[in-house]
Amino acid sequence: MNQDQAKIEVEALTIELNKYNHAYYVENNSIISDYEFDQLLKKLQDIESKFPELSSSNSPTKRVGGDITKKFETVIHKYPMLSLSNTYSKEEIEEWIARIKKSVESDIEYVCELKYDGVAIGIQYVDGKLKQAVTRGDGSKGENVTANVKTIKTIPLSLIGDYPNDFEIRGEIFFPLENFQKLNAYKRELGEQEFANPRNTASGTLKMQDSRVVADRGLDCFLYGVYGTGNLRQGHFETVEKVADWGFKIPKKENRYIEKTSSVEGVMNFIEHWDQERENLPFEIDGIVIKVNKYSNQEELGYTAKSPRWAISYKFKTERVETILESITYQVGRTGSITPVANLSAVQLGGTTVRRASLHNADQIGKLDLHEGDAVYVEKGGEIIPKIVGVNLEERMSSAKKVDFILECPECKTELIREEGEANHYCPNERGCPTQIKGRIEHFISRKAMDIDGLGAETVDALVEAKLIKNVADLYDLTFYQVEELERMAEKSSNNLILGVKASKKMPFAKVLFGLGIRFVGETVAKKLTKSLKNIEGLMSASREQLVEIDEIGERIADSIIAYFELEENKELINRLIGFGLQFSEVEKENSSSIFKDASFVVSGVFTAFSRTDLKELIENNGGKNISSISKKTTYVIAGDRMGPSKLQKAIDLGVTILSEDEFIALLNG
Ligand code: IVH
Repeated sequence: MNQDQAKIEVEALTIELNKYNHAYYVENNSIISDYEFDQLLKKLQDIESKFPELSSSNSPTKRVGGDITKKFETVIHKYPMLSLSNTYSKEEIEEWIARIKKSVESDIEYVCELKYDGVAIGIQYVDGKLKQAVTRGDGSKGENVTANVKTIKTIPLSLIGDYPNDFEIRGEIFFPLENFQKLNAYKRELGEQEFANPRNTASGTLKMQDSRVVADRGLDCFLYGVYGTGNLRQGHFETVEKVADWGFKIPKKENRYIEKTSSVEGVMNFIEHWDQERENLPFEIDGIVIKVNKYSNQEELGYTAKSPRWAISYKFKTERVETILESITYQVGRTGSITPVANLSAVQLGGTTVRRASLHNADQIGKLDLHEGDAVYVEKGGEIIPKIVGVNLEERMSSAKKVDFILECPECKTELIREEGEANHYCPNERGCPTQIKGRIEHFISRKAMDIDGLGAETVDALVEAKLIKNVADLYDLTFYQVEELERMAEKSSNNLILGVKASKKMPFAKVLFGLGIRFVGETVAKKLTKSLKNIEGLMSASREQLVEIDEIGERIADSIIAYFELEENKELINRLIGFGLQFSEVEKENSSSIFKDASFVVSGVFTAFSRTDLKELIENNGGKNISSISKKTTYVIAGDRMGPSKLQKAIDLGVTILSEDEFIALLNG
């Protein structure tokens, strides 16, 4: 391919990929499979790497991130980013409407919108290309976060249709709740501190230096205003509809994310609807924004120094209840981290009975200045467990004692430590603290690690209490007779336990490594390590430099791995596990390839040539991912006999490619 041919190809692929991306993320419509999309993207990446001069800063290949911003430059806003005047009272909204009616003499139209709880962004497009994205900052100047914003899939990099040459579009970047909860689940898995709420996390994410991390987190954006285009249409509502033609994701009328009305009742109805329904939205909102629609009316009404007179926001009162802090319990995690939990007098909040609230760490208790028996205010945010947001000081007795964070582990009485820069306290008695011992063994046997059948948390408790085990290697020394002696263990269950432990010796190296519970070594990290270092000897002898060279391994993970293997007792544990025949090297799988890289499969039904497990293994060996339920993101469904009709229908409805067993094998063989 010469340069001219490459240029044509790059342009064609860019247009095609942008089209699929828009259909998928903005219109929720999957035109091609993830696999086909990735093949096209890879093709473009290959050409760009051969002809780097053809790689534009707005290429679809930039979506995955990779650009590092060391320092975010300050940018002065061409149009100041104002704020909205706001109120918590419906009467004030009515008064605002009455004032507007008085000062503007035509029939007024209002646009009601959601007030997205995220971070404001102004994005400039020149000649149809995303040029710059700037945060609100202090309203007159913000920070240039372009590289990070480019990773947000619903924000177009190149526009389509009859867009103006140079304009700015503004909107709100937010963390969809599903992605936020996924991120926190991952943090939990690593034994790390969870993020407190979606809004602050969205804001923090937008200012991260590595745009690849931003790309992985899955932020989203809604747009609410266009600047520098003159009046495109008569009013705001029509303009918002118009920008959809250029490729932007706009709030939909169909789900009442935006509504035009000419009456007070219309506005109130919108407010009441969302006051009830906001719990069910897939993102957080903190109110409703009401805007005068027609630009001519907006111009008449004008601005105050800080905000437009033609718009107002109605903020929801977050439901907040008062209750009594009865006590604080300190939980010990498997890595020894201590989490304080508040026990409350039962109280109703958002339709559920609340008895506990998260307190995160000592700083949080200090910030709230909690005293024993305090009357506390409790709210529900994006998190499942409610949180304490303040104290009713009027109810506090002068004799009330301040809550002091515990100094000793509640389980083993060892003095707690708190390392510099860390938010959490830790119990350092790794080997002797019964809760940590049990926690580590429970983690080792869990489904995602060694998946040991016939052994659950209760049995682990009983085995530790009976002093039969104190680490994971002891499991492999257990005998049937020892187990059968335990209370509530009959012959059959004892047998199952012994067989389950034995069967786990076949588990692959990555599962064993994850099961060891090394701090910061989650499932994905374990896979990266085993793939790259091949065996335990390679891992134990790897230097910090070697470790951080591996994809996704940072300094903190590297230090934790090195610290783990420096301990004599850990080396001894590994040696015992090797002796018992567990897998400590990566087996090069037969027939392995990466042809299914990034493709996801649902295998369902009964097959003739292969078992379901065989098929799943083939998928993984060739770089694919097995998932359990069909969504629009699924690449393929392999349908066998007796696959459930509703599942099949779902695949058809979502346009997922359905393969027979033979077609799958043909695909595998290229
Ligand atoms: S319009 C002149 N519409 O609320 C102000 N703002 O206090 C134009 N916000 O910083 C803003 N949802 O980040 C507008 N539908 C919406 C909004 C919205 C959230 C945020 C925005 C702004 C703040 C105003």
